Amino acid sequence: MPNKRTMATSPKKLHIKTFGCQMNAYDSERMAEVLQPAGYELTDEANDADLVILNTCHIREKAAEKVYSELGRVRLNKEARKAKGRDTLVAVAGCVAQAEGEEIIARAPVVDIVVGPQSLHRLADLVAEAQSTGKRSVETEFPAEDKFAALPVRADGKRHVSAFVTVQEGCDKFCTFCVVPYTRGAEYSREPAEIVAEVERLSARGVREVTLLGQNVNAYHGSGVDGGRWSLAQLLRKLAENPAIERLRFTTSHPHDMDDDLIALFGDEPKLMPYLHLPFQAGSDRILAAMNRKHTAADYEALIARIRDTRPDIALSTDIIVGFPGETDADFEETLSLTRRVRFAQAFSFKYSARPGTPAANLDGQVPDSVKKERLAVLQALLEESRRGFDQATVGRRMPVLFGGKGRKPGQITGRSPYLQAVHVEGPDTLIGHIAEVDISAAGPNSLTGVMKSGFEWREPVQAAV
Ligand code: 5AD
Ligand code: SF4
Repeated sequence: MPNKRTMATSPKKLHIKTFGCQMNAYDSERMAEVLQPAGYELTDEANDADLVILNTCHIREKAAEKVYSELGRVRLNKEARKAKGRDTLVAVAGCVAQAEGEEIIARAPVVDIVVGPQSLHRLADLVAEAQSTGKRSVETEFPAEDKFAALPVRADGKRHVSAFVTVQEGCDKFCTFCVVPYTRGAEYSREPAEIVAEVERLSARGVREVTLLGQNVNAYHGSGVDGGRWSLAQLLRKLAENPAIERLRFTTSHPHDMDDDLIALFGDEPKLMPYLHLPFQAGSDRILAAMNRKHTAADYEALIARIRDTRPDIALSTDIIVGFPGETDADFEETLSLTRRVRFAQAFSFKYSARPGTPAANLDGQVPDSVKKERLAVLQALLEESRRGFDQATVGRRMPVLFGGKGRKPGQITGRSPYLQAVHVEGPDTLIGHIAEVDISAAGPNSLTGVMKSGFEWREPVQAAV
């Protein structure tokens, strides 16, 4: 039943543009929920919106600059609406908001509200204040109150097969290049009971696959009802008991926090998908030490060997930075050589970007952009070759595919393999939301094509008792 506040106000349009990581995508969903009781409905049309939120990323300079160019477009739109007698409120959320706060207000007069990731549960109040007083506000404290507890329960009524659930935020690792410990604050883990309940609600709405999110997700340490500490492995085991959840994933992990239990889980929990995103950042021990990564290249390789011992077919993904201050050609060679030895199924690679306030920004030996560019091109060619090799090796195999939607061509549906590859097949729409066995027939540049296993009989899967 719609609540009184929704009925009392005519629907207003809300447009959220999300930059950056999956945690921001999750926060965007939650912001839409926070604003729903105030009468805001989501629209894809920025021009049509009474409230525009940019949920921003500060991880690299380029990401932060994108926000200001987007604000230029928002300003033109706000002026065009104003000419038609319609007001537009503009909010900047996320990590740029957290890092730059007042600076955004000074640099971009179009912005009415600046709200950091720890304060998004306050958004409805901030919007109401801006509307009634016309004052611009900045809310970037790390409040003592638990923002997850203050957020409304997810209930958008939408049907998604896969969902993200943030279980941990912030980071205490302080890699010297990274802004996260400053923008997202100290490491914080949500309580297991709260997460289990959220996953139950999601599974009752048709979600079959859950990806647990955290900046440093394997440092997870929630306290259980018994007062004991829960590791990420314990949390995953508990979530696997939900009969309607068929697949579990987690990201992003730090090599230092890959404990034995978590590695063992890849061998003995069939619902935990064989895919692990484990950034190594650089292959040279000298650079790794300067990055404060707390592991050497040999530590990383030994860890990968243990994980592959437990789950030989695991798809490995990583993050790599080129051109960290002081990186020589020989250091970069070590990055290439480690990349060759590990054979990643997927990878994200970046030019080092000096972030104000981080220790590495003040180091001597900043690498010229032209060198970073060259190194990135060489690395990306190698990573692409490795990715294609992994995809090619799955051709001819039969794999369970979780179907999430229709394909681009009529009669086609699309889903994900256990290794997170996109798979397209000819098949009935009734399979969307379900897992079916597929024989992989070809690997294209970005996806696989397959044929539904012949004689495949579709059965209604078990539903959660909620
Ligand atoms: N410059 C370049 N890449 C960075 N990352 C984080 N900070 C920086 C930076 N200052 C990359 C890391 C991290 C990923 C999310 O972004 O590889 O794992
Ligand atoms: Fe940033 Fe990840 Fe290092 Fe934490 S572990 S400081 S989030 S790169």
